[in-house]
Amino acid sequence: MINFQDIQVKFDDFVAIQNLNLFIKEGEFFTFLGPSGCGKTTTLRTLVGFINPTKGKITVDGEDITNTPIEKRQIGMVFQSYALFPTMSVYENIAFGLKVQKYKKEDIKKRVEEVAEVVDLKEDKLMKNVSELSGGQQQRVAIARALVLAPKIIVLDEPLSNLDAKLRKQLRKELKKLQLEQGITMVYVTHDQEEALTLSDRVAVFNNGVVEQVGTPEEIYNQSKTEFVCNFIGEANSISTEIIDEISKKSGIKLDPAKKYYIRTEKLKTKVLNGDQQSVALQAKVVSKEFYGTYSLYKYEVMGSSLINIEKEDGNFQYSEGDDVTLFINPNDILQY
Ligand SMILES: Nc1ncnc2c1ncn2[C@@H]1O[C@H](COP(=O)(O)OP(=O)(O)OP(=O)(O)O)[C@@H](O)[C@H]1O
Ligand SMILES: [Mg+2]
Repeated sequence: MINFQDIQVKFDDFVAIQNLNLFIKEGEFFTFLGPSGCGKTTTLRTLVGFINPTKGKITVDGEDITNTPIEKRQIGMVFQSYALFPTMSVYENIAFGLKVQKYKKEDIKKRVEEVAEVVDLKEDKLMKNVSELSGGQQQRVAIARALVLAPKIIVLDEPLSNLDAKLRKQLRKELKKLQLEQGITMVYVTHDQEEALTLSDRVAVFNNGVVEQVGTPEEIYNQSKTEFVCNFIGEANSISTEIIDEISKKSGIKLDPAKKYYIRTEKLKTKVLNGDQQSVALQAKVVSKEFYGTYSLYKYEVMGSSLINIEKEDGNFQYSEGDDVTLFINPNDILQY
């Protein structure tokens, strides 16, 4: 479907995107994930046509669109700040694209009502001014406006980041449903790793204008290719050389001391299953604990360095500061770079 080939974007001397090669499949929910300033929006704007790349080309279904004007690309857009027309009603906002395309009045009405229903905007809202709506409702209008011309591709740049956590989760689910039902290819930008993991078919992790890994959420989480990806996605403990030596000794598995090693917080265990022959036991002391409701976070001291794990609990702490605990690490769970 969408193919970025050797794309470079420069702003004067500054290289924002180095040499991007990325293929997005039809019907995919594809996410650009990365920290602020890594080039997510720039890549999206290049796809939509606001930015001309200094090198490379973009094709959609084999057709070169690198120099195609924005309006001819037929890509729907949703942004973080809703970018609605503030003096127009909800109806007029959603209908805008259809009016520009000179659709008949009754066809516009039918289509606007259809799309409003898809994004769950009740009919009584349609005649309101957009400034009378809540943030969540405004974002629904923005999504409806992107849907109205039935584009094959919709790009969304941090569309939920202005909303509160609960609404964000709800709209996330609705977006996913919409994408599946309408068969739209969605290109989604976020710096929120949880959002990327829960929504995406595949994720591209950006860092400094370079894509460090492309993969399914499970792949980028469990088999993070680079140290950056490992640290950006979820929580990971850096494992000290002393602990690595100990694990090598006890397990008989050779681990190169020149490398860097990590283990995800939830992979560090205080219990192992019966019959687990692989996990290595380490003596630890509880240094601190934090209560998060459904789980607790414990910080331990192990051979002079600290490790953090999370424990599911029933509302009560299992351990107290100063407790001696045995921690288990399965060498297969260690990430190395
Ligand atoms: N029009 C521009 N002129 C000059 N530099 C720009 C321009 N647009 C973006 N940049 C620079 O390019 C880099 C990438 O910016 P971009 O907006 O793509 O980041 P981002 O990944 O979307 O970040 P955020 O999560 O903060 O939105 C940044 O260093 C930014 O300062
Ligand atoms: Mg951005």
